[in-house]
Amino acid sequence: MNMASLLKSFTSLICILLTCLQTIGSTEHENPPRIAIIGAGIGGTSAAYFLREHFGPDVKIDVFEKRSVGGRAATILFNDEQYEAGASIIHPRNMYMVNFTKLFGLEPLGGAESGKLGIFDGKDMVFSTSDWGVVTMAKMVWRYGWDVFSIRSYINDHLFTEFLKIYDIQSLGYSFTTVADLLLAMNETFVELTKKSIDDVLKDAGFSERFINEFVMGALRMNYGQKLGLPAFVGSVSLAAAGESGLWSVKGGNKLVPQKLLESSKATLIEATVTKVTFQDDVGPMYEVEYAKNSDGKDAGPNRREYDVVIIATPLHDKVTDIKFEEFPKPIHNFPQPFHTTVATFVEAKPNISYFGYSEVCHFPDVVFTCDKDLYFNSIGKHHPVEGTSETESENKNSIYKIFSNAVPTVQQIDNLFADKNDLRIVEWLAYPQYNIGDELPPFVLHDQLYYINGIELAASALEMSAIGAKNIANLIVNHWTGNMDKIDEFSWRDESLKTDKTEL
Ligand SMILES: Cc1cc2nc3c(=O)[nH]c(=O)nc-3n(C[C@H](O)[C@H](O)[C@H](O)COP(=O)(O)OP(=O)(O)OC[C@H]3O[C@@H](n4cnc5c(N)ncnc54)[C@H](O)[C@@H]3O)c2cc1C
Ligand SMILES: *[C@@H]1O[C@H](CO)[C@@H](O)[C@H](O)[C@H]1NC(C)=O
Ligand SMILES: *[C@@H]1O[C@H](CO)[C@@H](O)[C@H](O)[C@H]1NC(C)=O
Ligand SMILES: *[C@@H]1O[C@H](CO)[C@@H](O)[C@H](O)[C@H]1NC(C)=O
Repeated sequence: MNMASLLKSFTSLICILLTCLQTIGSTEHENPPRIAIIGAGIGGTSAAYFLREHFGPDVKIDVFEKRSVGGRAATILFNDEQYEAGASIIHPRNMYMVNFTKLFGLEPLGGAESGKLGIFDGKDMVFSTSDWGVVTMAKMVWRYGWDVFSIRSYINDHLFTEFLKIYDIQSLGYSFTTVADLLLAMNETFVELTKKSIDDVLKDAGFSERFINEFVMGALRMNYGQKLGLPAFVGSVSLAAAGESGLWSVKGGNKLVPQKLLESSKATLIEATVTKVTFQDDVGPMYEVEYAKNSDGKDAGPNRREYDVVIIATPLHDKVTDIKFEEFPKPIHNFPQPFHTTVATFVEAKPNISYFGYSEVCHFPDVVFTCDKDLYFNSIGKHHPVEGTSETESENKNSIYKIFSNAVPTVQQIDNLFADKNDLRIVEWLAYPQYNIGDELPPFVLHDQLYYINGIELAASALEMSAIGAKNIANLIVNHWTGNMDKIDEFSWRDESLKTDKTEL
């Protein structure tokens, strides 16, 4: 035996030893896990879909939902038609939402939040676009210089090109145990963006005070009902939608996507409120889930089922989701961050144009941002039914407007904004986190085989973010369950390009 072959057998011996050690150190299972998913919004239903895709027909998946499938993607009936009451717009580069829509043969509806835009400072419409592109351009440059154009390339260069990397990372099977690690894998600057305010970041990048105080503030109020001082990551997500012409929604309602995901995942829907998750230390399934069925009366006893894996797919916030965690070695508690109240008010009316300083209704914008932090409403927009604009909409007929505010508006406030009002409906949401600089980014793993999708909302809340969180957790479960530890928190572009180089050779 020469030196080289000796070395070779020695290395293979070490390899065998290492493989053994790895197998001992991790849990490898032969049977697929029994999985409970709590919440049937886009997060819970896409998790069910991704898990079925991976584990095949044998995995048992139960999805618990206390209200209705879709969660914050919901429609309301107003004036004989359905309107989006929660999540209404989707960005053209939200790849999971785009692909799900295609996959299920659903139709995208363009023109969401398009039309003329105005920015109202509480007294005057300080800026508005025109029907004429050239006029709009001239007005934009006059008021904001080139900032309106630069912001698009700024967001594309700093956010989107980097953000889109998540799809490749996830399709390679990589997974992350914390929200911060997921952000870092996309770009090393993303966690920093959660620690600085959007206004500071834009000021440093050379954007003018006026642009920040009017346009940026207007977009932040419209999308998250929140002020300047918002972390730059969620602020950038908000700006990615402002002024983007390709925004869309799903014809028939965005909730059709979670409905179809659930259907195609063949998971069992249990219409019930989960009240307790108990850790079971002894042999057998790790968790017991206790729930009260919506159909059972108040006096009916609790129901219980056992699972190997539990996914929390709803914000762990006392007022949103009240679940008790019992018998855990270390306490698991709800996250303390406050949630922001957003009220959507639907009215069928004509805008009181004199309130906004207008004399002719035909010039009035379709979407109004507001940039006064003390004003009681955040935005007003003409709103179309989920089936698209009805052909009967005529000049004389009143339009449907949706007003976003941080509290339920008074009758007087609505009467002052609109004339000739004939119908009104109010939907109050605990909508998304109230964002603060330095908010702690939660973990995706709360305990062995207990996962939390909605931690990702602390980076930014959107339909696509929950789908990304769900894919991450599906990958984590697969990697944990099959003992594939090198795809957990180990991503680096350097290694990945080395691998692709090798396969090309
Ligand atoms: C007014 C408003 C406007 C928005 N606009 C947009 C937008 O334009 N574009 C966009 O992308 N995003 C938007 N968002 C954000 C978006 O709606 C959310 O980020 C997304 O829908 C979150 O999905 P999810 O599945 O993570 O949570 P959810 O949709 O909240 O789903 C959680 C589900 O869990 C259920 N549940 C809770 N507790 C229990 C329990 N104990 N037992 C059983 N079930 C339980 C709930 O009933 C709910 O159905 C908006 C949100 C609001 C409120
Ligand atoms: C992270 O993003 C910045 C742009 O914001 C870019 O210059 C940098 O190259 C990115 N990092 C990696 C590793 O791609
Ligand atoms: C979306 O679908 C396209 C075409 O089928 C595919 O190439 C792409 O990888 C999909 N993207 C994601 C994020 O799943
Ligand atoms: C419209 O707004 C103006 C200015 O705020 C107000 O004086 C007037 O009463 C409002 N009109 C209606 C019909 O409420």
